[in-house]
Amino acid sequence: MSTTKQIQWFPGHMFKSLREIREKIKLMDIIMILLDSRLPMSSMNPEIMKITAHKPVILLFNKMDLADAKVLSITEKEYQEMGYYTLKIDAQSGKNVDKIHGLAREVLKDKIEKEESKGLKIRPFRTMILGIPNVGKSTLINQLSKSSATKTGNTPGVTKAQQWIKLGDSFELLDTPGVLWPKFTDAKVGYHLAITGAIKDRILPEDDVCHYALDFLKSYYPKRLYDRYGITQDMDYVSMLNHIGNTRGALLKGAEVDYDRVYQIILTDIRGKQLGGLSFDRSETL
Ligand code: G4P
Repeated sequence: MSTTKQIQWFPGHMFKSLREIREKIKLMDIIMILLDSRLPMSSMNPEIMKITAHKPVILLFNKMDLADAKVLSITEKEYQEMGYYTLKIDAQSGKNVDKIHGLAREVLKDKIEKEESKGLKIRPFRTMILGIPNVGKSTLINQLSKSSATKTGNTPGVTKAQQWIKLGDSFELLDTPGVLWPKFTDAKVGYHLAITGAIKDRILPEDDVCHYALDFLKSYYPKRLYDRYGITQDMDYVSMLNHIGNTRGALLKGAEVDYDRVYQIILTDIRGKQLGGLSFDRSETL
């Protein structure tokens, strides 16, 4: 397995997204950046850190249910030390989503006090929700729009200015795709994104992705690998694949191991939490 391989990505899309965000950012009260809790560094775009440097920002660590809680807390602290306000959420179940507005109020405290002292009524905060593909932007938008007392069904209501979507009573979202590019200079980051399904399986060969994943699990989560598959430390990559293929009956005619099915078993298990909460980004791996 090579970790120096260059991964072909599509910078045209990235520049279009960033340009759009840069143009609209001055309209925002607060920016929400959604990170994947399993890879809170790989799912951050360094460009977006620069663009938003002078704006109030909340980092939302989504899919907290899928991450290794201990590692996630360490990374969250590192971001806090950089000056970010953070919150761990699970947009699918709605966990902590109700805390986002309170956090936004805390971040915007000075501005709110100033407006209140002028006798102004606090209006919903104007926001953008940014994140890499599949990080949970739509799921979060649905959750936030559910909290509206005046909602009509589950569809976010459109306010007067057409491009703003009302999310409950608390936020107005600028209707942009909000799609960010992940940080992508290191092949490891590519593997982390591929393992978790943030980038499509066809961009990196599954064989390489599974090789990386099994080696990673063997280093960081050996007990879980043993408990789930009976894999021991002395097994090399091919032995691990053969072992999983044989014990799971992923076999072709003639009892040969069906490697494509083994890759699917491994990736489905990792993404579906069969191996417990996992964190791929950790300070020592990036
Ligand atoms: P996007 O708009 O940023 O592209 O992401 P979207 O909301 O579509 O979410 C992508 C997938 O992630 C969805 O799964 C969604 O249910 C899941 N998801 C979002 N937030 C959370 C979370 O906090 N925890 C967990 N466990 N899952 C979350 P899906 O519909 O099954 O799509 P897919 O996985 O088949 O792509």
